[in-house]
Amino acid sequence: MDRARRRVGLQPIAIHALLNNNPPMDFAQHLKSQVDIVDVIGERVRLKRAGAGPRFVGLCPFHTEKTGSFSVHSVMQIYKCFGCGAAGDVFKFVMEMDNCTFPEAVKLLAERTGIPMPARSEHSDRESRLREAVLRMNEMALLHFRGVLMGGQGGEARGYVESRGVPMETAEQFGIGMSDRGGPLLDRLRREGFTEEHLEASGLIIRRQDGSGFFERFRGRLMFPIHNESGKVAGFAGRAMAKGDEPKYMNSPETAVYRKSQILYNLHRAKESARKAGRFILVEGYMDVIGLSAAGIAETVASCGTALTNGQVKLMRRFADQVTVNFDPDTGGARGAEKSIQVLLDEHARVRVLELDQDLDPDEYIKQHGAETYLKLLDRAPNYYLWLADQSRRKFDTTSTEGRMDAMRFLMPSIQRIPDKIERAAVAGDLASYLGVERGLILEQFKRAAIDRREQSPRQSSQPLSGAERILLNAVMQHPSLRAEIVPQLAVSVAAQQFRTRRIFEIIFQLYDQQPDFSFGDLEGRLEEADKDLLSRVLFADDIGETNNLEESREWARENALSSLRMLEKAARESTVAGLRQEIRQAEQRGDLAAALTLTQELDRLRKSG
Ligand code: UTP
Ligand code: MN
Repeated sequence: MDRARRRVGLQPIAIHALLNNNPPMDFAQHLKSQVDIVDVIGERVRLKRAGAGPRFVGLCPFHTEKTGSFSVHSVMQIYKCFGCGAAGDVFKFVMEMDNCTFPEAVKLLAERTGIPMPARSEHSDRESRLREAVLRMNEMALLHFRGVLMGGQGGEARGYVESRGVPMETAEQFGIGMSDRGGPLLDRLRREGFTEEHLEASGLIIRRQDGSGFFERFRGRLMFPIHNESGKVAGFAGRAMAKGDEPKYMNSPETAVYRKSQILYNLHRAKESARKAGRFILVEGYMDVIGLSAAGIAETVASCGTALTNGQVKLMRRFADQVTVNFDPDTGGARGAEKSIQVLLDEHARVRVLELDQDLDPDEYIKQHGAETYLKLLDRAPNYYLWLADQSRRKFDTTSTEGRMDAMRFLMPSIQRIPDKIERAAVAGDLASYLGVERGLILEQFKRAAIDRREQSPRQSSQPLSGAERILLNAVMQHPSLRAEIVPQLAVSVAAQQFRTRRIFEIIFQLYDQQPDFSFGDLEGRLEEADKDLLSRVLFADDIGETNNLEESREWARENALSSLRMLEKAARESTVAGLRQEIRQAEQRGDLAAALTLTQELDRLRKSG
């Protein structure tokens, strides 16, 4: 590429930069510029300065760890945990810590810093009024259901609760209630003045198809409130009591406050015990949670009638890194356990499986054998892969070579999910001897799987990160005032197309073109997961010439960036020169002297301009 073209390429960008200075910042941005993420996080996490630069580290509040992989960047105003992957800006931190929405996080931070909030927009107002209304309706419904259970109509249901071995005290603690045949709750909510729109949005009340009014979703059921992490009633599960009443369990639909893939039954009560115990017990049923908790095993949770999701595991991982799966001892339970194991491994949990004998589910078992016996079994629960090996032995005929290979293939996906290479190999070895398969065969399978994976995702190249791209990416992101000197040059450089971070840079070029002042969030919001990770790795890893003085570090970054650019340009020129030389040689060999002459002139021009 020649110089003239480069200069032309520069112009539209530069003009754009002049036209586009400082758009009015919205409130959240303004607020963000007024708070320091290091202070906000520092209130919750003990942060230590790492080196002389803008990085701080501490123990991650979102998962259990002994060494600090949680980093905060004071210049970029972002955090990233290199253990569990949690990452974001100051708002995201508050949202995750306090389990709240973005507008709520903004409000919390505004209050904390004493910056007055502007009048809220109509939309966010409506949204948060709706959430508040649904939470209030749920709270009222809980009281109503409790009243029914304890009242004149509740005799039979109380008998049932007792027959299931739940003391009334426990029932009260878990907010268990009973829905009547319908009517009174609707009347009550109406009297409170909830609008029809809010009634319907609560999921408690259903609008009749023919539009003639409303009726209640839960009728004649034993009611279990489902709380969100901060202990607010998000929804309900209603268990049928009458014979033939289907389904056995009916849950609240998705509402503004009930997202079933993000809610774990009993998490708000279990989380502190789980933190102390270093583990959760994951069971299938509400009754299992209640039974174990009543017996003093408080770190118990269940997903609410759905397959376990990554979101739910992420919630757990913030408090403990071990999860013991204890599902019902039937085939449904075993299949559920297999699926859950995969999700748990995906989120890097340490997984054990407890299988109870005598066909008892956890609730029944603990009632028959007591908490002590159960706890002993719990502590002896095998690692998931041994349990899986038993499962595969049951499924396949491991007396034949073929059956053993099938068993191994069944186990392979779970082994592949073990993040640590050494552990993975060890587990594979153990399993091979357990099943009587030759170790060599397993290793062979591993290699093949690794190759398949590479072929499927050519984007995950293992191309090393060059020093130049690290320096340039840091300069551009940490010092926006340097962008005008760096970005336009880089945008036309061939070298940037070879960077491992090239996709990040492509977006940077586009953003710069529209708005040279773009923020970290603007960039991050447009990146794929893998690139987000790469970006924060680069930003947190850079410790070249770190200093605490912003002016000094800006100068240092500028010098490094400009010399990197010069170096890249030199390298690009050298490769062009080499290319031209080769073309000249080939032209001469062909006897095409005219072409050789033109190429030589081009080579001369190139040399002079450098
Ligand atoms: P179980 O049938 O084992 O329920 O289903 P349970 O809690 O042990 O209840 P009891 O002991 O029979 O009273 C386990 C879980 O599967 C979900 C519920 O979350 C339940 O707790 N489930 C089950 C449903 O969501 N819907 C159903 O119809 C059945
Ligand atoms: Mn059960």
